[in-house]
Amino acid sequence: MTTDTLDIKITKTAHSRLAETDFDNLPFGKVFSDHMLVADYADGEWKNFEIVPYGPIAMSPAISALHYGQAFFEGIKAYKHEDGTVSIFRPDKNAIRFNKSAERLCMPTIPEDVFVQSIAALVDLDREWIPAKENHAMYIRPFMFATDPYLGVTPSATYKYVVLVGPVGPYFSKPLRVKIETHYTRAAEGGMGYAKAAGNYAASMLPGRKAAEEGFDQLIWTDAKEHKYVEEMGAANAMFLLDGKLVTAEAKDTILDGVTRDTVIALAKDWGIDVEERKLSVAELAEGAKNGKLTDAFGAGTAATIAPVASFVVDGEEYFLSDPASREFSNKIFKTMDAIKYGRGEDTHGWNYIV
Ligand code: PLP
Ligand code: COI
Repeated sequence: MTTDTLDIKITKTAHSRLAETDFDNLPFGKVFSDHMLVADYADGEWKNFEIVPYGPIAMSPAISALHYGQAFFEGIKAYKHEDGTVSIFRPDKNAIRFNKSAERLCMPTIPEDVFVQSIAALVDLDREWIPAKENHAMYIRPFMFATDPYLGVTPSATYKYVVLVGPVGPYFSKPLRVKIETHYTRAAEGGMGYAKAAGNYAASMLPGRKAAEEGFDQLIWTDAKEHKYVEEMGAANAMFLLDGKLVTAEAKDTILDGVTRDTVIALAKDWGIDVEERKLSVAELAEGAKNGKLTDAFGAGTAATIAPVASFVVDGEEYFLSDPASREFSNKIFKTMDAIKYGRGEDTHGWNYIV
């Protein structure tokens, strides 16, 4: 199946909610546009691509997604430029990761161009829902789940692919106080950390809640084996400027290969900054904070954008970093990425997919 043959049936809503939506008060992930895209997988193929009014989906309570977690998702953003142009940021990368997740969870893949075109069709129809405002965007949430009503532990033969979109504001409102997690594990080698599996997020909730109760905003996960090396930060990749070099964990099987991470690395390389994708120990991080060589620390993600770390705690000791507003690297990254996304800067890498 290719885009040339992708046929999407469109049924428009009889009542748009656009006029009654408060665009001055957009919490992340709570407002959805008028429509959604749905498609079915059965008999070994994807079919019934449809855009329908946003709303509930009827399903059997026995579907295996609910019992055994055969479910995963993606996160992408669309932006409105000053001249009204609409662009989606690097959806081709998400298409590749979508299929990596599908393969890990024993679920069917979707041709990359079908994935991108299905999203673009929905964004196009609901383009009026994209906020034309700094730090705001349309969040795109494609996901897939298993729909066989069968309680045997076996890969489902049927699936649903759904795309939701909605206007969003910032995910984090302030620099983060971070706990370095050395008890709980997000992902182990051989596991599914590199997939955007729903279960990975379920596993993070109890540790996240405990950290919140202790007064933290986020967790930085460490490796499952020794709890010695830094991995990811909540729903973002953890990135650091240490001794003038950009350091981040290698995108191996415990790490989600972030699109924002890849973008930051590409820009750093453009600017002649050395990039090290390697193991970074918690001890090295603490040492860098002590001797002043750790000049920047942030989470990088689609929802999180560039989320500065204000301080982190290791073994009960809190390490405070420089004022986030004064950090050269992360502020330049944030500004440069935004300029590209909102169409103000030159898109030299061809990252914007114009709708
Ligand atoms: N790591 C995790 C666990 C995430 O949930 C996300 C969010 O998508 C990221 C990293 C960052 O990935 P991306 O930049 O592709 O959004
Ligand atoms: C994203 O950045 O797209 C994410 O998936 C984060 C989400 C879990 C809130």
